[in-house]
Amino acid sequence: MDLSPAMLDLCRSKIAKTDLPPERVAISRGDISSFALNRRFDLIIAPFRVLQNLETIAEVDGLLHCVHECLAPGGTCILNVFRPIYGPDELREKWLVPGERLNWEVQVEGGKVTCSDRRVRIDKERMVIYPDLVYRRYQGFALVEEVVMHLAMRCYYPETFEQVILDHGFEIVSRWGGYQGDQYGEGPELVLQFRTGGDFGGQSKS
Ligand SMILES: C[S@@+](CC[C@H](N)C(=O)[O-])C[C@H]1O[C@@H](n2cnc3c(N)ncnc32)[C@H](O)[C@@H]1O
Repeated sequence: MDLSPAMLDLCRSKIAKTDLPPERVAISRGDISSFALNRRFDLIIAPFRVLQNLETIAEVDGLLHCVHECLAPGGTCILNVFRPIYGPDELREKWLVPGERLNWEVQVEGGKVTCSDRRVRIDKERMVIYPDLVYRRYQGFALVEEVVMHLAMRCYYPETFEQVILDHGFEIVSRWGGYQGDQYGEGPELVLQFRTGGDFGGQSKS
């Protein structure tokens, strides 16, 4: 599931190159904070930090409610977020800096593609950062295409991420700090695997 038709097309084209039988795959356009699939799953994942795109607690409530509805008995969900290099106070004070930083560049036939980021805004109460990712394609030295992706990333810390999951009536099964054996809270990533525990809760804050 994704909101973006372009991402779903990419998914379809990747699936077409596999030998997965069609009945094993269902693709749908939808909002992960509000969906009804009327099916239950043993495993639900939202990889690559998608949770952080949900800016409000109401949206996070919505996602976790839908996860509750869609988990089969004994099933688990895995969500991940990045671990900020700054603590909360430092992030509020230091994140917003002017200018653009080059993240990466790759050589392509006849030129190169670059990706830079601009830090546009921070909501210090909700701890949501708003970076723009700027992709540029050059033919030789001439800029021929520029695409800007506007992102919203709600930031979580090891304890606050766990608390959100626990507050929504789940129990945590496993925690990881990255994909190289890092301890939770020490690596670049915060990854939690959880299953339905007690009552489904919700938070009233924004
Ligand atoms: C970092 S990408 C991850 C894409 C994919 N999960 C993957 O692993 O390649 C984040 C994706 O989340 C999608 N997205 C953001 N907010 C969403 C929402 N509320 N509902 C559904 N998709 C959303 C975006 O369209 C984008 O494709």
